[in-house]
Amino acid sequence: MARTRTTKKLAQRIDLNYFKRPTPLKRAKFWLSLLLPLIALLWIAERSIFKDSRVYSSGRLSEAHAVLEKECAACHLQKAGEFSAKVADKACLGCHDGPLHHAEQTKILECVNCHVEHRERGNLLAASNQSCASCHSDLRAYSGAARYASNIRSFEDGHPNFDAADKTNRGPGTIKLNHWLHMKPIRAMAGGPNVQMDCSDCHRTAAAAVKSAWTYADARYSAASVSYTDADNFRALGTSGLAARNPSTGRELMAPVKFAHACAACHLLMFDRRFNEGAPHDKPDVVHAFLAKRFAEYIAAHPGELRETQDPYRDLAGKPSPPRTRALTASQWVAEKAAVAEELLWHKTCAQCHQMSASPLQDTRIARWSPANANAVGKISSTSQAEFLADQQEHLATRELSLPTVAPANTTLKWMPHAKFDHEAHEGFTCVSCHAKAMTSTESSDILLPGIETCKKCHAPGPEHAESRCFECHTYHDWSKRKEVTPKFTLPALRTGGR
Ligand code: HEC
Ligand code: HEC
Ligand code: HEC
Ligand code: HEC
Ligand code: HEC
Ligand code: HEC
Ligand code: HEC
Ligand code: HEC
Ligand code: HEC
Ligand code: HEC
Repeated sequence: MARTRTTKKLAQRIDLNYFKRPTPLKRAKFWLSLLLPLIALLWIAERSIFKDSRVYSSGRLSEAHAVLEKECAACHLQKAGEFSAKVADKACLGCHDGPLHHAEQTKILECVNCHVEHRERGNLLAASNQSCASCHSDLRAYSGAARYASNIRSFEDGHPNFDAADKTNRGPGTIKLNHWLHMKPIRAMAGGPNVQMDCSDCHRTAAAAVKSAWTYADARYSAASVSYTDADNFRALGTSGLAARNPSTGRELMAPVKFAHACAACHLLMFDRRFNEGAPHDKPDVVHAFLAKRFAEYIAAHPGELRETQDPYRDLAGKPSPPRTRALTASQWVAEKAAVAEELLWHKTCAQCHQMSASPLQDTRIARWSPANANAVGKISSTSQAEFLADQQEHLATRELSLPTVAPANTTLKWMPHAKFDHEAHEGFTCVSCHAKAMTSTESSDILLPGIETCKKCHAPGPEHAESRCFECHTYHDWSKRKEVTPKFTLPALRTGGR
């Protein structure tokens, strides 16, 4: 019988239940569909057992708050059992203060306007230009006073030049210094070779100053304690400028220049050829007491010098005159020699660097008892030499009253009190790249500070430049008004890591 291949028969050979039969692939699918939600559920359960809600977070927290990664409730306060997506200032203020900017401000921004979270370990301090410009682009509208530039939108747009760098200003310091002269090869000691000074021979930050010895210091002056104080030296800062949060590290600003560190090795305060040492660098009354003491000690050791003889000399007519002698008491001798030394110091040595108050010059004609002066004395014909001497003694006795005063140095510690500046952060750049005028200035009242154009060369938008948003150079909070906050929230990590 012939084989019949009907379609029906053929169809019967197909197993209509093939899809019901299990295959390895199907089994895997089944188990996976059960397992995956289970894993997810277990993970969520595990996270909540360990109180970690990062699952719901919209991005990792800043570096500073990384320890709070699992603590949503620290910032997102719970209301009726639910986290609020908004963050209230009081959550932030519970852990640390963020004092106001200015008492005058008529608008108050929320913390989160400037301190933006969930930006993948971003810098929490990187407030946007807009957050500052929301007031500073029209400051008059937000301020009672109008003391500052009023239309600043960014460092590039509307920021004024710095007051301190204004070319028409004169510096208030009274210490005379010719930068130009000292930056040329200059003689360090009489007869010695010339030396090339460097800015850092006179200017170092307080932190750098203790690291290595000063090139032109004199150990005797560095070791001496002086009777004037730093408060006498420094110009009052006034009340302007916001206090930074962290105390100074001593690396930001250049320390005030000191005679003992920077001048003493070249500018010797010699006062008399009999001595191989200089006068103290101190107030005139201290110098005066020192001189009296030194000359008294000297004359006690060399009493022979009380008797002085003038060399014979010829007068104008060529007639030889007999040698003259005179004898002084020790106190007369000391008073006279001190008067001569002081004439030199007050009017020449100290005056080279200082504004000295006008003090009546000692009459040192007697002390300079030389042939020429002997004549001069002779010219005061109405007084005999004895009378003149007596006069002089009286004068010397009351001279305490007529010691000059040294003008306060009036050193400026911070030239730009409304901004931060850090010399150490700019260590890689030469001093003259910002202070070009230091090479040509001849007066200390010249302003050597850089203006805004100098900063803009590097501080500009874009990744190839240094930061140019406001927070880089300015403090926002007035940290002098800070309140200490004891966090109500206690986290093990904060107990050691927090401040
Ligand atoms: C240090 C404080 C802080 C912590 C801790 C914190 N957040 Fe936030 N979160 C913020 C701030 C600030 C905002 C912005 C809120 C605003 O604009 O008011 C924010 C916004 C959010 C938003 C809204 C979406 C957005 O991106 O604006 C979500 C969702 C969120 N956080 C989830 C979480 C979760 C989940 C956690 C815990 C894992 C957490 N946050 C922990 C500060 C915090
Ligand atoms: C649970 C406590 C806690 C809360 C809540 C909290 N912080 Fe902090 N914050 C810290 C700790 C801890 C630090 C790191 C130590 C320090 O600088 O004091 C810190 C640091 C900061 C810093 C300095 C960042 C830096 O880079 O130096 C800022 C700014 C700041 N927090 C702002 C906020 C703001 C805004 C909020 C509210 C959204 C907030 N914090 C909420 C604990 C907290
Ligand atoms: C207009 C922007 C702005 C607002 C609003 C603001 N901050 Fe700040 N905050 C800054 C800037 C910029 C800094 C960095 C400079 C400084 O220390 O003032 C800063 C610094 C801080 C620091 C210290 C950082 C450090 O370690 O030096 C803390 C803490 C802080 N802010 C908390 C707060 C809190 C809390 C609030 C809300 C009450 C707040 N801030 C509101 C801009 C702002
Ligand atoms: C809510 C308004 C407001 C915001 C936002 C604001 N400021 Fe001010 N700012 C003021 C007021 C008001 C003054 C004081 C004006 C006066 O005394 O004439 C001021 C003064 C200043 C001064 C000059 C005086 C000083 O004390 O040093 C600087 C610098 C300054 N702000 C920087 C900033 C920076 C940087 C930001 C952003 C992080 C900022 N401000 C955000 C209102 C604001
Ligand atoms: C011989 C020591 C000496 C040397 C070298 C020296 N300075 Fe000065 N500098 C001073 C003295 C002193 C002052 C005045 C201090 C005062 O009045 O506060 C001063 C003041 C300054 C000031 C601030 C005053 C202003 O008016 O701007 C700057 C900036 C300055 N010097 C930069 C420099 C630079 C840059 C160099 C190197 C090119 C340099 N100085 C080399 C001694 C020196
Ligand atoms: C080569 C320059 C130089 C000479 C010379 C000099 N000084 Fe000074 N003097 C300084 C400098 C720089 C300071 C700044 C602060 C310091 O050195 O402690 C200063 C500070 C002073 C002060 C403190 C001023 C204040 O602000 O209260 C007195 C006082 C003083 N000198 C007295 C003298 C007397 C007196 C003489 C002469 C015997 C003298 N100085 C010679 C450079 C000089
Ligand atoms: C390396 C040696 C050296 C050092 C260090 C030095 N000077 Fe001089 N200074 C000199 C020489 C040399 C002269 C030129 C003297 C002259 O010709 O009368 C001079 C001159 C001066 C003059 C007179 C300038 C003029 O225009 O006539 C003043 C003021 C002065 N120095 C101040 C200072 C002060 C302040 C310091 C310390 C901060 C200092 N010097 C450090 C070597 C030095
Ligand atoms: C690269 C550093 C830098 C940046 C960035 C910067 N400033 Fe300044 N700013 C300064 C310096 C320096 C001063 C001068 C301070 C002084 O003279 O005491 C100043 C002065 C000011 C003043 C006082 C102006 C006056 O009239 O005396 C205000 C206000 C101010 N800045 C706001 C801002 C604002 C807002 C931003 C951001 C949009 C900003 N600054 C960005 C460095 C900077
Ligand atoms: C990037 C620019 C820059 C560089 C580089 C720089 N300075 Fe300054 N310097 C400044 C500014 C800005 C100030 C004003 C700071 C203030 O007092 O507010 C200043 C101030 C000073 C002052 C006055 C005292 C003080 O610190 O306020 C002296 C002195 C000084 N600089 C010396 C130097 C010397 C020396 C170098 C090289 C080692 C140097 N500077 C490098 C920008 C610069
Ligand atoms: C030659 C390039 C250059 C110049 C010019 C320059 N800066 Fe900077 N500045 C830098 C660099 C680089 C940094 C560190 C990196 C950064 O913060 O982006 C810096 C950092 C700073 C900081 C932050 C310092 C800190 O660590 O707290 C301040 C503030 C600043 N500069 C102010 C100024 C001012 C004001 C001027 C102009 C007088 C100026 N800079 C000129 C390159 C420069």
